[in-house]
Amino acid sequence: MKAVVYKGPRDVVVNQVPDAKIEKPTDVLVKITTTNICGSDLHMYEGRTNVETGKILGHENMGAVIEAGNAVQRVKVGDRVCLPFNIACGFCENCERGLTGFCLIANPGNAGAAYGYASMGPYSGGQAELLRVPYADFNCLVLPQGAEEKENDYVMLSDIFPTGYHATELARMQVGDSVVIYGAGPVGLMAAHSAAIKGASMVMVVDMHKDRLALAEKLGAIAIDNSDGSCVDQIMKLTGGHGADCGCECVGYQCCDHTMHEVPNLTMNNLVKTVKPTGGIGVVGVFMPEDPGGRDELAKKGQLAFDFGQFFTKGQRIGTGQANVKAYNRQLAKLIAAGKANPSIIISHELPLDQAAEGYQHFDERKEGWTKVVLKTGS
Ligand SMILES: NC(=O)c1ccc[n+]([C@@H]2O[C@H](COP(=O)([O-])OP(=O)(O)OC[C@H]3O[C@@H](n4cnc5c(N)ncnc54)[C@H](O)[C@@H]3O)[C@@H](O)[C@H]2O)c1
Ligand SMILES: [Zn+2]
Ligand SMILES: [Zn+2]
Repeated sequence: MKAVVYKGPRDVVVNQVPDAKIEKPTDVLVKITTTNICGSDLHMYEGRTNVETGKILGHENMGAVIEAGNAVQRVKVGDRVCLPFNIACGFCENCERGLTGFCLIANPGNAGAAYGYASMGPYSGGQAELLRVPYADFNCLVLPQGAEEKENDYVMLSDIFPTGYHATELARMQVGDSVVIYGAGPVGLMAAHSAAIKGASMVMVVDMHKDRLALAEKLGAIAIDNSDGSCVDQIMKLTGGHGADCGCECVGYQCCDHTMHEVPNLTMNNLVKTVKPTGGIGVVGVFMPEDPGGRDELAKKGQLAFDFGQFFTKGQRIGTGQANVKAYNRQLAKLIAAGKANPSIIISHELPLDQAAEGYQHFDERKEGWTKVVLKTGS
């Protein structure tokens, strides 16, 4: 089969590799139809993780089941399925509580497994023609009849739509709240979409890229252009000097100042500044336990100079971590089916799998107009 293989920093290629296959009776084999490039893939692409050479990338996957292991009961050959990026067993202590992003079984010795990702277990990704899906009865979201027509919406249920939603949940957003979201990448835009759906009174999205901010406006948010470094002032002005009711971090450890230099503590400290006292902060942007490529000594050790005194004085709360996609994907799918959510609005490029390297390069450069890339595997 063809697959996107990591070769080294800023080097991915589409290679012929051995076909993915059923390895355990609880697996299904999925023929991929759509698979996305994610901002999380860029951490690996840029050489800022310990991902091994030869890894097949891709954790935002959707396709049709073409073979099912003997122990699979619910999912059938022919079903069209969207796969949460988390691989979860369904029966460990965390999965039982719905915390499928922190499965204790799927990646032994760690909490949490995923397809095609650094430190998330031995699983190959789905930027390929075929994907092995473990614990298939638990992990597959079987899509309704006619799902093909909204393929580009449903594929967003694999990660960024539930992840954006999770950011608002971690921030304990309530109906009527004002929300500030740092990052107008795919995840921040999906947090904005989710906040609007959940009844926010005002959604503010901060970024430096005008094309991404324009999409935030399309989703009903107020664009906060930080190209001059004034985002904190703009947000305080819009909220009458109080700060937003809650806030979301959708950038992660590679966040930049307005001159595009990495300042890893910037978004977290800006959230402390621009969320009101007692407000919640939801962090889904990825921060790493260590980052040898980090810009300073703290960053290399996965540490931040965090304004903890302000944070404490304001009585704020933080929630963090990988999204438990299964906690939301079924419900969000109903919004897509009903036409009340259309996450595909952020897609800028649909490319054949063969052009994945080009997709990675342009998306990584945050080149004007490259807001989300979906790869199609064709026949
Ligand atoms: N927790 C999860 O489950 C989960 C899932 C998916 C992605 N992620 C993470 O979410 C983050 C965002 O993903 P994405 O796909 O949107 O990536 P992206 O890199 O395309 O988007 C990030 C955006 O943040 C902007 N940005 C940089 N510095 C900023 C600052 N100081 N203030 C405001 N905006 C700033 C960038 O210009 C960019 O548009 C990444 O860290 C990714 O790994 C987490
Ligand atoms: Zn992703
Ligand atoms: Zn589990």
